[in-house]
Amino acid sequence: MNIPMVDLKGQYLTLKSEIDAAIIEALGETRFILGPNVQAFEQETADYLGVKHAVSCASGTDALHLALRAAGIGEGDEVITSPFTFIATAEAIRYVGATPVFVDIDPLTLNIDSAQINAAVNARTRAIIPVHIFGQPADMDEILDIADQYDLKVIEDCAQSFGSRYRGSMTGAIGDVGAFSFFPSKNLGCYGDGGLVTTHSDEYAQQLKVYRNHGSSQPYHHDVIGYNSRLDELQAVILRIKLKHLADYNRNRRRVAETYNRLLADSPVETPALPQDRDHVFHQYTVLADNRDAIREHLLAQQIACAVYYPIPLHQQKAFADAPRVSLPVTESVATRCVSFPIFPEMTEQQVETVCQAVLEAV
Ligand SMILES: Cc1ncc(COP(=O)(O)O)c(C=O)c1O
Repeated sequence: MNIPMVDLKGQYLTLKSEIDAAIIEALGETRFILGPNVQAFEQETADYLGVKHAVSCASGTDALHLALRAAGIGEGDEVITSPFTFIATAEAIRYVGATPVFVDIDPLTLNIDSAQINAAVNARTRAIIPVHIFGQPADMDEILDIADQYDLKVIEDCAQSFGSRYRGSMTGAIGDVGAFSFFPSKNLGCYGDGGLVTTHSDEYAQQLKVYRNHGSSQPYHHDVIGYNSRLDELQAVILRIKLKHLADYNRNRRRVAETYNRLLADSPVETPALPQDRDHVFHQYTVLADNRDAIREHLLAQQIACAVYYPIPLHQQKAFADAPRVSLPVTESVATRCVSFPIFPEMTEQQVETVCQAVLEAV
C-alpha cells in the first residue's frame, strides 16, 4: 500500500468546490495586496488563537524575522533557542545580526530543556525562542519565569503548532510574540508560502504592520527600512476556508497518533511523550528507535513514506560553523534515533495499521 507523509490532494478535493468558487470571486475583486480576505483572515485567526493582534506576512521565516525586529533584537544580542528545529528558527536570529545560543532538548518532549536555559543566559541575552516542535508545546511557564527574571522577550516558534494548547492557552498567545507558518504541509497550510505574527501588544502589532510593508505606515511615507512581506490575497482565501476545518483536522491527527501509540505500545520504539497539561497537535508523529535506519529502509521498500526530522541539529550545521562549538548530547542522540511516520487528518485506521505492521516487522 502506497502511504504518503501527507495527502494534500485528497484534502483539496474535499474542499474543491468551496475553494475554487472563493478564488474565482477574489480574482474578480482584483484587490490582490492586503485585500479584504487578508484583513478578515487576520481577525479570524486572532479570535481563534485568543490573541489581540494577528499580522500576516509572506512566510513563517519572515514571521520570525519580523517578530525579532519588532522586539528590538539586533547586532550583538544573543537569542536562546533549540538546536532541534528547522533552520529558519536560527536563520531569522542571524538576519537581525544576533547570535543564536543553542540549549539542549528534553529527551521526552524533544523541546528545549527549560531546566538548562538559565545556564545559557548572560548580559547579552535578549530573547528566548521556544519551538513547539512537531506540534507539542514547550514548557512555557518555566520559560516565562526565566524571561521575567532576566527581562527577556519570548518569541514562540509556532510554525508546527497551530491550534495546540498549553495549560488552556493557545500557543502563539503565551509569549510576547508568536510566529506561524502556512507552508502547505503545516496543520493550517496554504497553497504556497504564508506566515503570521501574533501579539497582545498594540505597539508590536503597529511595528509589524510597518515592517511587513516597506517600513510604511501611510502610502509613500517610509519611517524605517522594512520588507515586502505580505500574505497573498489568494492564500488568505484558502486559509479562511481551511481555518473553519482546523479543529477537526487537529482532532483527526490526534486520533491517528492515538492509534499509533496503541499499536506501538509494546514495541521497542519510543512513542511521543504526552504531558497532561498540553495538547499535542501532531504536525509530525515522531518516534525514537535505535534501529531507525532499518525501520526507514523497510518502510520505504513497502512504499510507506517516512522522514527524518532532523538528521543534523543546528549547532552542527555548516551554516553555524562560526558559532562557538558546543556539545548537546541529548539532541545529538535524538538526531540519530528520530523517525517520523505518515500523519494527516484523512489517514485511515487501516493505513495506520499498515505502517505499524511494517514498523513491528522491522524492529
Ligand atoms: C519550526 C519551524 N520554524 C520556521 C519555519 C519556517 O516557515 P516557512 O517555511 O513558512 O518559512 C518552519 C517551516 O518549515 C518550521 O518548521
